[in-house]
Amino acid sequence: MNNLAFQAKNMLRNIKFLFPLKNQKLISTFAGISKNLNKNIMESIKMTSADYIAREEKYGAHNYHPLPVVLERGEGVHVWDVEGKQYYDFLSAYSAVNQGHCHPKIVEAMKEQASILTLTSRAFYNNTLGEFEEYVTKLFGYDKVLPMNTGAEAVETALKLARKWAYKVKNIRSSDAKIVVCKNNFHGRTITIISMSTDPDAYREYGPFTPGFVTIPYNDIEALERELAYADVAAFLVEPIQGEAGVFVPDDGYLKKVAQLCKSHHVLFIGDEVQTGIARTGKMLACDHEAVRPDILILGKAISGGTMPISCVLADDEIMLTIKAGEHGSTFGGNPLASKVAIAALDVIKEEKLADNAEAMGIIFREEVAKIQTDMITLVRGKGLLNAVIIKPKDGKEAWDVCVAMAENGMLAKPTHGDIIRFAPPLIINEQQIRECVSIFEKSLKQCEG
Ligand SMILES: Cc1ncc(COP(=O)(O)O)c(C=O)c1O
Repeated sequence: MNNLAFQAKNMLRNIKFLFPLKNQKLISTFAGISKNLNKNIMESIKMTSADYIAREEKYGAHNYHPLPVVLERGEGVHVWDVEGKQYYDFLSAYSAVNQGHCHPKIVEAMKEQASILTLTSRAFYNNTLGEFEEYVTKLFGYDKVLPMNTGAEAVETALKLARKWAYKVKNIRSSDAKIVVCKNNFHGRTITIISMSTDPDAYREYGPFTPGFVTIPYNDIEALERELAYADVAAFLVEPIQGEAGVFVPDDGYLKKVAQLCKSHHVLFIGDEVQTGIARTGKMLACDHEAVRPDILILGKAISGGTMPISCVLADDEIMLTIKAGEHGSTFGGNPLASKVAIAALDVIKEEKLADNAEAMGIIFREEVAKIQTDMITLVRGKGLLNAVIIKPKDGKEAWDVCVAMAENGMLAKPTHGDIIRFAPPLIINEQQIRECVSIFEKSLKQCEG
């Protein structure tokens, strides 16, 4: 609103400067515009959370079910609503804001590059993409990177790469390649991705589906071994921790066995670290906990610190160079703005040692939650600062009610699958703040218990 008022004032000043009482008709037109602008300002000044929610309901698709808070500002671990109430953000935009809201270094990089060059398309070279490519491949230890925008696009890219590799390198008969995926996976929302989903909400009435996927239970090595025995299997796609499913952490050693089995069957191991990557689980990658390296690594979300959609796929030459010029791409993927922002966002993760902090704060969080005396918690699980608490309903109060109470008490988290609350604050959170938030959670549970 301040910004709008400033713009209106500026506009009036410009009108007066441009038309010093010469053209009465123009002046009255602009006066009309400025009157309308003032009206808009007055309306937005009067708007409450309820008004904002009603407007979204009226004009927006109903494809989300948000908590009833309307946010207008964020800084670090906090966000503020339109009434000025402050909250701890324990969702971090589904782990995209690992570096904290509006991190000054990332915003500065964004502002600087935004005033120089934002988009060239890949029809031409630009002077920043190579810098990002060198940075990210060296950081994660791969020959090449393919930049995209959203997580789903990066997953699609990985699937295409795996199929191309299957035909060009593994010599699977054309169109026969299979990709093994896990039950309860979440890899995004495109038609192909929901074709491998086992969640009816994701796939119901969106068919016909893309063929070529085989589903096995998560965390089941025997099932994987059985499927990998077929000669037409190109890849195994897996989340190192299933985030959207409710933070399912596989058994210790699972990823190591996955990597070994894939290698021995000449099958690509694709790690979807869109949610678990970029320090969220206490290491730069969740795969680092078991010192395994996927053949294809998918990154998204926090690679931009939550400022803009940036994703990428990393692989070695044998895989990446199977895709030839003109066969895959995106207008925005690898744009100069994204390149600079991603470098800054990854720098912040390293400079502020956010993986170490996530590890340390995660331990405190789980220990403190485990001490809460309540009938409503049945389980706490997670790694680093990707955690979930399973809520047992009591007297008609469910996970949703606990989240609404937490919001009233100044902390935002979102239930998933009815009875699970995910706790994923920005990784810059400190010990005192973690302890305060566990107290808010406890107080909210007590309020629900009555
Ligand atoms: C593991 C995983 N993969 C892919 C995606 C899709 O990312 P996006 O929403 O940016 O398309 C998500 C989103 O939550 C995710 O958790």
